[in-house]
Amino acid sequence: MRIGILGAGNMAAALGEQWVRAGHEVIVSGRDPGKTAALAATLGARAGTWQEAAAFGEVAVVAVLAGAVPAVIAQTGDALRGKPVIDVTNDVGPHGFRPVAREIARLSGGHVVKAFNLCHVDVWRMTPPVFGGRPLAVPLCGDDPGALALARELAADLGCTPMDGGGLGRAELLEATAAFMIGLWAGGADAQAVLPPLARSGAHPAA
Ligand SMILES: NC(=O)c1ccc[n+]([C@@H]2O[C@H](COP(=O)([O-])OP(=O)(O)OC[C@H]3O[C@@H](n4cnc5c(N)ncnc54)[C@H](OP(=O)(O)O)[C@@H]3O)[C@@H](O)[C@H]2O)c1
Repeated sequence: MRIGILGAGNMAAALGEQWVRAGHEVIVSGRDPGKTAALAATLGARAGTWQEAAAFGEVAVVAVLAGAVPAVIAQTGDALRGKPVIDVTNDVGPHGFRPVAREIARLSGGHVVKAFNLCHVDVWRMTPPVFGGRPLAVPLCGDDPGALALARELAADLGCTPMDGGGLGRAELLEATAAFMIGLWAGGADAQAVLPPLARSGAHPAA
């Protein structure tokens, strides 16, 4: 599949490397042409402008700092309209969090799927991300069946298990979860320990 990554930072590098290895054609893009070209050369990908990456991809991936999203999307013209767009961003800080996925949908006109925002970049570099013998599950929130199918494929390419997280209206819950978990991890807590297994969730007592 052709993947246009908006970003040339850590997340672009980690995910781009995985997807190139899986056989996809990847373009990375950034505001610094030299840095973008260097990353592309490292990955075995191509470098392009924001607009070129957005137009090239059958799917686009937004991997820039959340505060840069409006300016970056503005430079993609109409290229994201009606296209699958995976949003990996977090806007987390002392303020708590600010939702981004629906803003990306509004600004781009794309079929946004929120994904890959819950774990640190080092996890996305793992081949594969497996903990205690269990592949990492990647929750996906989006409305468009075609975009969700591509996002599932890209999560599976990492060796992860895609997990249906509901519609784009639930992306904000995923964004809040990331903010909450990042706060626990930053404090040195074993945040993974906060949830019981499915059989003890109360939702499926017989599981
Ligand atoms: N790092 C993680 O563990 C992690 C995990 C999950 C989700 N995320 C989210 O993924 C997104 C990318 O994170 P990252 O770790 O890849 O960050 P990063 O390494 O700092 O890269 C950020 C990218 O955004 C670009 N950028 C920053 N400010 C910009 C601006 N004003 N205009 C245009 N481009 C700008 C950077 O360009 P320059 O290189 O020129 O600065 C770079 O291409 C963020 O929203 C982050 O919250 C990160």
